[in-house]
Amino acid sequence: MKNSTILSVKVLFILCATAVMIFSACKKSQPTATSRSETPILPSTPYEYLAVEEGGRTMDITNLIHDESNTMVSNESVTLGRVLFYDTKLSINNTISCGSCHKQALGFADNVAASIGFSDRVTPRNSMAIQNAVHNNNMFWDSRAQSPMELSMMPVFNHLEMGMETDQMLESKLAATTYYPELFEKAFGSKQITKNKIALAMTHFVNCLFSKQSKFDEGMTFTLGNPADQTPSNFSPLELEGKKLFFSESFKCSECHAGDNFSAPDFVGGGYGGSGFGNNNDPSNPRGTANIGLDFVYKDNGRGEGKFKIPSLRNIALTGPYMHDGRFKTLNDVLNHYSHGIKNHPSLDDKFKANGVAKPLNMSEGEKMALISFLNTLTDYNLTTNPKFSDPFVAH
Ligand code: HEC
Ligand code: HEC
Repeated sequence: MKNSTILSVKVLFILCATAVMIFSACKKSQPTATSRSETPILPSTPYEYLAVEEGGRTMDITNLIHDESNTMVSNESVTLGRVLFYDTKLSINNTISCGSCHKQALGFADNVAASIGFSDRVTPRNSMAIQNAVHNNNMFWDSRAQSPMELSMMPVFNHLEMGMETDQMLESKLAATTYYPELFEKAFGSKQITKNKIALAMTHFVNCLFSKQSKFDEGMTFTLGNPADQTPSNFSPLELEGKKLFFSESFKCSECHAGDNFSAPDFVGGGYGGSGFGNNNDPSNPRGTANIGLDFVYKDNGRGEGKFKIPSLRNIALTGPYMHDGRFKTLNDVLNHYSHGIKNHPSLDDKFKANGVAKPLNMSEGEKMALISFLNTLTDYNLTTNPKFSDPFVAH
């Protein structure tokens, strides 16, 4: 072969290789939105939702639901709720679903400080993790809703989040799809679509986002009662150290992030306004909120006086950025706040005061590391990866 022929073969080869590279790069950079299916892809027999696990034992979720949504719950109604949760048709311009701001892989939270609603409108607060809503009677950062049922339709009609304007608009939009009439029939025995049934099914799904299969749960013996007194055998020495600090008198984390849901202590006389339903509209009732001295002057006062919901710390490793406005990127930043950032706000919680003034916790680097490794044991990978909680409009 002549040298010039070899050269042109080489040039041709290089050209082809470049073309292939460019082509595959273009393919990769195509928007993922095109991979969404128009209709939900569902299993022929519905997933099992009602039997839930807590640290190795199985329970019936309906025994844990204490509000008016505990009616007509079935695997079919939860399936309908799952479809509604992920359907962008619930937003005015077909762009946003609940799942846009509550992402399964992130413990049903979002990874941006302020979530983006329809037409790129920014919500004023950080999206919240959704899990164990059945244990919750103070919802939203300012505890303005008392139950998942009360909350379900709020984002749909919230102008920043999903922008639907009237009940009728939503009902007829869903009735015009190929799949909803059948899904409503399977769930509730009739093809008729009403706002109430939409809220009910959505709530059934939200209630089934039950998260009790973390490393922490696996190490606990529930019959022994108080988690503080137990030594989970599956914990590393650092995790055990973190657990001890979390439940300690000096740090008091567990006095606010309480019980085995690590959320607001909900009992009468507990100082946080528990318990039960019915006192939501009384502005003097803190309903599980507290002021932790984030600012001297708050831009958003939450429940009032800079008090915000004491959130559950389950799946906390996945749900950053943190706080009502997403001001802290990492758990280390959160601990730096408790360690030396607490401000002497007039409504600062007594737990962070000594002799009437703010007393930051002064943590060592070692203590922060231990606390973070304990918080990491609260992650539940069943919740974040199980296909039954995933987006049915995407083939898995
Ligand atoms: C545009 C983003 C966005 C969309 C869409 C959205 N949410 Fe939210 N969600 C948030 C934000 C932000 C908060 C906190 C709001 C506040 O405190 O005022 C929140 C709070 C919640 C909470 C309270 C959790 C708790 O522990 O208190 C639940 C439950 C919830 N949303 C469910 C839903 C459901 C169901 C839908 C669909 C109907 C939905 N969300 C749609 C952003 C969104
Ligand atoms: C007086 C009650 C109280 C105590 C004690 C307390 N917290 Fe909190 N915690 C809160 C409140 C209220 C918030 C939310 C504040 C906000 O967003 O404005 C919060 C938020 C958090 C967050 C961020 C949660 C999220 O979803 O963004 C973490 C993590 C956290 N606390 C960990 C701890 C640890 C660790 C301790 C112990 C060192 C502790 N807390 C002690 C009340 C408390």
